[in-house]
This record gives sequence, C-alpha cells and structure tokens, in this order.
Amino acid sequence: MSTWQSGKFSVAIVSVICLLIICSANAQLSANYYASSCPRLQRIVRSALTPEVRKDRRLGASLLRMHFHDCFVNGCDGSVLLDDTDTLTGEKNAFPNRNSLRGFDVIDTIKTRVEAACKDTVSCADILALVARDGTVLLGGPSWTVPLGRRDATTASQMQANIDLPSPASDLSALISSFANKGLTAAEMTALSGSHTIGQAQCSSFRPHIYNDTNIDSSFAATRQSNCPATAPSGDTNLAPLDLQSPNQFGSNYYQNLVAKRGLLHSDQELYNGGSQDALVKKYSNNNRAFRNDFAAAMIKMGNISPLTGTDGEIRKNCRVPN
Ligand code: HEM
Ligand SMILES: *[C@@H]1O[C@H](CO)[C@@H](O)[C@H](O)[C@H]1NC(C)=O
Repeated sequence: MSTWQSGKFSVAIVSVICLLIICSANAQLSANYYASSCPRLQRIVRSALTPEVRKDRRLGASLLRMHFHDCFVNGCDGSVLLDDTDTLTGEKNAFPNRNSLRGFDVIDTIKTRVEAACKDTVSCADILALVARDGTVLLGGPSWTVPLGRRDATTASQMQANIDLPSPASDLSALISSFANKGLTAAEMTALSGSHTIGQAQCSSFRPHIYNDTNIDSSFAATRQSNCPATAPSGDTNLAPLDLQSPNQFGSNYYQNLVAKRGLLHSDQELYNGGSQDALVKKYSNNNRAFRNDFAAAMIKMGNISPLTGTDGEIRKNCRVPN
C-alpha cells in the first residue's frame, strides 16, 4: 500500500471509530437507566427536596447553579461535590464557587435517602442532575426528562474550575466561547442564562457593573448601590436578586429586565448590548413559552457534557469523598 493509500485507509478507520464514539456518546445516558435498579429514585429525590425548598426557596436556584458548575468542569461527574483533603484539591474553593455555591448539605441528605433505598447504585452526578430539574420545577420553571447513567469522578480540578466557569466580568464574546468550549451554542447560552430569573448574587459579583458601566438604568443602579458600597471589601457579601421582580419565581422577567437595562451582572447585560443575542433576548422577553422550551432543551444538552459512563468512574457512597 502506498503512503497515500494507507493514509486514506487510516482516515477511513478513524472516521468509523469517531462515528462509533459519537453514537455511543448519544446512547450513553437514558431516562430509564435506574428503572429496575432503583425504581423509586425520582420520587425519593423529589420528596426529600421539596420540604427543603419550601423552607428556603433560594435552594432551588442554588442547586440549579451547582449542576451547571459541575457540568462545566470536566463534565457532569459530581466533581464539584468533593471536599478538599490532604490528597485532593476540590473545586469548592475555586473562585467562582468559594463562599458562593450552596446546598451541599441538602445533597448529602438526599444521597442518604437514596442510599437507604438503593445502596451503591445511584451516582451523585445523577442526583445533582435530578435536583437541578426539580429545583427549577419547584420554583415554577419548566420540567424536562433527565437522562441518567452518569458515574462519579474520583478526582476534581480546581484549576479547571477557575478556567472553565465564566466570570461575571466577561464580555459577550468570552461568554460565547466559554459555552462553545462545552459544545453549547450562543443561543443555548442565552437560554441557559435565563436561570438568572431565580436566585441571588453578592455585591462583589455586581459592584463594577452598578458603579462603572454606562449600559445600566440609572435608578436601578442607584437602588443596587444603596446596599452595595463602592469600595471592597465593604458589603461584599450583601445579596441582591438577579431578577428584581421575582427571584423565587421562574419566568421571563430576566429578559424584560435586560431590555430595560436592569441586568444585575455585567455578563447579564452583555446579552443585550447591541450584539448578536439582542434579538433572542427580545424574543424571550415577550415569549415565555419559547424561553421555557429552549431552556429545557438546553438543560438536557448541558447535562450531557462528557459524562463518565460504563465502567469509568464510580458510584460514590458519600458525595463528598471518593470511595
Ligand atoms: C453565562 C454565564 C454565567 C455567568 C457569568 C454567571 C455568573 C453568576 C454569578 C456571578 C452569580 C452570583 C454568584 C454570587 O454572587 O455568589 C450567579 C448566580 C446564579 N447562576 Fe449564574 N452565571 C452564568 C450562567 C449560568 C447558568 C448557565 C446557570 C444554570 C444553568 C446559572 C445559574 C445561576 C443561578 C440559579 C444563580 C443563583 C444562585 C443562588 O442564588 O444561590 N448561571 N451566576
Ligand atoms: C471603576 O473603575 C475605576 C477605574 O478603572 C476603578 O479604579 C474602580 O475601582 C472601579 N470601581 C468599581 C466599583 O468597580
């Protein structure tokens, strides 16, 4: 065989292998993965989560965000749940997570209930995907079928978390490329950002936007400045709702706010600042149904980022530590 022919032959082989990988990647997760091994799983998760969200509505938002921060760092593999130890540097102290992610104890409570019913069977990564959906639904958001079968990582990467999680100081092109790196389109990024219809942010996350940006409604800026002093670290942890009307109710207010220049984060307002996402923001601002459908579809896609499956990874006994 000439070099040229063998080159062509190996290209053909590689294509077939790639196709197989793509096919199996699509077939890896499935909605009925635990149908026989843990048939009550979804009811257990929902009934453990519901009273927690009734007590603290914000938890629905916090757990949705936790799933995002899991998926964006080496895939949806439960790595975000691992605690720091002498031998493992977890992701909880990465800049976007430190003193910001919350709800880890609720994951522990749910995992304990799941273990009691189905020992060593359900991954922490899958539990996180389910609570992200259920938290959204409990706050009035859309529902979707959660593909399951993820396995848990035995390692984490604080460095990757610092690189891969988008910063609130990002401009539009940085946001688009951060999501493109994870296989998500700009439109999916805009739909997923609608998560900011629920939950809270700390003054340290939005201070530069309310003091130094010009693409912000001045009375909104003044209102936010009243509880967020200009000079760090004063008031750093003071909270403000990401969506000023209804932080505990999932809806399209977030987009209406962007159109009115009332985005809380610099990154939020970048989605409606004369760039490529303006039209979609406008559309979602007066088409809640389109937003809900696109959000649900994008959540399924985000939940599919590089899962560990088959014999990779493990089913953690305790979400905070590898077995
Ligand atoms: C587009 C890029 C994004 C950036 C730059 C960003 C940034 C942030 C920041 C800075 C906060 C406030 C953190 C704090 O001050 O403690 C926050 C909160 C939040 N984010 Fe995002 N985010 C983005 C996308 C997403 C996505 C894709 C989701 C979910 C799918 C999400 C869900 C949330 C939720 C629910 C909260 C409120 C959490 C709570 O109240 O505990 N975000 N985000
Ligand atoms: C606003 O910008 C100035 C000049 O870059 C900077 O010194 C200041 O710290 C910024 N203020 C805030 C609140 O971000």
